[in-house]
Amino acid sequence: MVFEKGALIAEGKTKRVFELAGDARRAVIESKDDITAGDGVRCDLIPGKGAISGRTTANVFRFLNKHGVATHFVDAPNDRTMVVQRCKMIPLEVVIRRIAAGSYLKRNPEAKEGEKLEPVVLEFFLKDDARHDPLIEKHEIMKEKIATASEVGEMENLARLVFLLLEEAWKQQDVVLVDLKIEFGRTTAGGKLVLADVVDNDSWRIWPHGRKEEMLDKQVYRNDKAINAEGLERVKRNYEIVAEMTAKFVDTKIE
Ligand code: C5P
Repeated sequence: MVFEKGALIAEGKTKRVFELAGDARRAVIESKDDITAGDGVRCDLIPGKGAISGRTTANVFRFLNKHGVATHFVDAPNDRTMVVQRCKMIPLEVVIRRIAAGSYLKRNPEAKEGEKLEPVVLEFFLKDDARHDPLIEKHEIMKEKIATASEVGEMENLARLVFLLLEEAWKQQDVVLVDLKIEFGRTTAGGKLVLADVVDNDSWRIWPHGRKEEMLDKQVYRNDKAINAEGLERVKRNYEIVAEMTAKFVDTKIE
């Protein structure tokens, strides 16, 4: 795909969003080499991470598009770049959990880490750095006019579908998808709700063979508080492994 970036629209901790020159309905997302934790308090550079994350997110979106999920993904003209349908983002993080871990344990002290959640648990968090992305209830989302009741329902259904598809794709490689964070947007062209942003190795917890000790995701970086060059190299190797593994998703057969 031939494409030309236009003006910078937005810059996040790990990506930049540009206009697509000559096409107001589309945009360009470029992954950066940064890795951050604790609301950006910790930040490191892993040269090449942008390309690795870009490959992962393109693999995930191609797989989801193939299975009928409405996403913003159009194409990935190179490793670090996606062309997407331009969206107005809904300022929510939607987290789906199969296994009790992370912040769920703090909010649910009776839960044991590693416990299976059946059915999956769905949570909404308001994207608000100053308030450390607090949990938000569905009635508050509607009251604050962040999304309508029907959009909340649509997000719940899509989030479950996305999780179950990715859970199955990972299962076929003997990896347990513990939890996943996704974001939604409304297309500027028609206001349609679609899965947007990126889904990469920063977005989930994945435990090969169901073993937390073997985790390959960003949690390795979060846990390594005094990370050195060797630690960053290990994190990069994990991200490369995940990019390779997700390349197989598109051929995954879903029953
Ligand atoms: O920390 P917590 O348990 O709420 O995280 C749940 C999931 O959401 C994890 O997979 C984590 O990587 C992801 N997450 C994220 N971005 C955030 C917060 C959590 O991708 N800002």
